[in-house]
Amino acid sequence: MSSTPPPRTYRVKSFGCQMNVYDGERMAELLGAQGITPAPDGEAADLVVLNTCHIREKAAEKVYSDIGRITKEWGRKDGTAPLIAVAGCVAQAEGEEIMARAPAVSMVVGPQAYHRLPAMIAEAVQGRRSVDTDMPAETKFDALPARRKVGPSAFLTVQEGCDKFCTYCVVPYTRGAEVSRSFNDLVAEANTLIEAGAREITLLGQNVNAWRDDRGRGLEKLVEELAAIPELARIRYTTSHPNDMTEGLIEAHRDIAKLMPFLHLPVQAGNDRVLKAMNRSHNVASYLAVLDKVRAARADIALSGDFIVGFPGESDAEFEDTLRLVEQVGYAQCFSFKYSPRPGTPAATMDDQIAPEVMDERLQRLQGALNTSQLAFNQASVGQRCTVLVERRGKLAGQWLGKSPWLQSVHFTGDAAIGDLVEVELVEAGPNSLSAKLSQPAHA
Ligand code: 5AD
Ligand code: SF4
Repeated sequence: MSSTPPPRTYRVKSFGCQMNVYDGERMAELLGAQGITPAPDGEAADLVVLNTCHIREKAAEKVYSDIGRITKEWGRKDGTAPLIAVAGCVAQAEGEEIMARAPAVSMVVGPQAYHRLPAMIAEAVQGRRSVDTDMPAETKFDALPARRKVGPSAFLTVQEGCDKFCTYCVVPYTRGAEVSRSFNDLVAEANTLIEAGAREITLLGQNVNAWRDDRGRGLEKLVEELAAIPELARIRYTTSHPNDMTEGLIEAHRDIAKLMPFLHLPVQAGNDRVLKAMNRSHNVASYLAVLDKVRAARADIALSGDFIVGFPGESDAEFEDTLRLVEQVGYAQCFSFKYSPRPGTPAATMDDQIAPEVMDERLQRLQGALNTSQLAFNQASVGQRCTVLVERRGKLAGQWLGKSPWLQSVHFTGDAAIGDLVEVELVEAGPNSLSAKLSQPAHA
């Protein structure tokens, strides 16, 4: 590869989970601090960062087709190909293999090493390709520039990695062991986010409720500290493990009004044998017991989760148990996936892999049940008065879109602005959103 002019514009494309969205924003800020500016929509970019997801096979394979397309479509103004960096979990998992399979890629950088991108870009400009999948002792958070401008709802990564080793999951390998950021760093970053425009902060982690600081304080203490910041209106956290749902965190849902009544607590399956084979370390009864406690603390809590259908060996009857659980719990919204074997995970080599048509049929049935549950939840909210955090304009004139406390998408028309917290009455429910009318003018 010969030398190229230093990039002046960039585009970062993030796939997968919210932690990747957060990392994508931080990479954009890092590039901005180097004087590289975002390429306008639809225009060529000198540097393209693909911030990838490895959680399921489809997501990982997409990277290679994207590289081909980007080389063609997102080239520089002079017709040359952009510099391409592959970041995220595919970068971590496949490293050198990406270099071999995709000659157009000049940088491969893992999720713990992306603060080193500027040096890698300098190499790439000289025509040298580089791979950095270290999990260095120095933390990227110390090396990244301060947060600049954010929307009304911002993400804050508090914890990364996972020690749980569910047998289907690549996260413990791609994101490494569980590491919590320090209390003071997080409060400082939250304050910067709030100064930059955030009214809601979602605390992120692969196991966010396992967050602990060096004094043994749990997530509820961080929530409590952030709730005391007057300009911050709402706090959320995702994603949690049933076994890390402590009494303290459950009580925070009762005691801290700014902690929104929403809990994303993946259960994955509704059958104990399957949960054991998944190495989930909880069973259906212990999961339901956690939900009971959470509901006792906050009766209106909206429940969410993740499900996998077609885990190796899952029988029809075992799958039916998952459907029964969905009916019993009454979820507000959920994600559901077909099991996808990930190289290097124990489940990938288990006997009794389930046929694709069986998985398709199970996923359809599960999604049908989840949609019914979600619609029922939305319908039950009609007539409620609540606040909506306005996030953006809608398609119609004067229309605004935002989120209810229960994380439902809500649209309404009237006098408002992005970042307002308006009082509304929910008037009509659809499967994916609700319409509302303003109870009082936003600028009263
Ligand atoms: N196949 C299918 N779904 C998976 N998930 C994680 N690994 C796999 C896999 N190998 C799902 C889980 C997890 C969510 C983020 O992705 O439901 O909670
Ligand atoms: Fe993956 Fe299980 Fe860890 Fe969640 S708890 S990130 S599913 S290993």
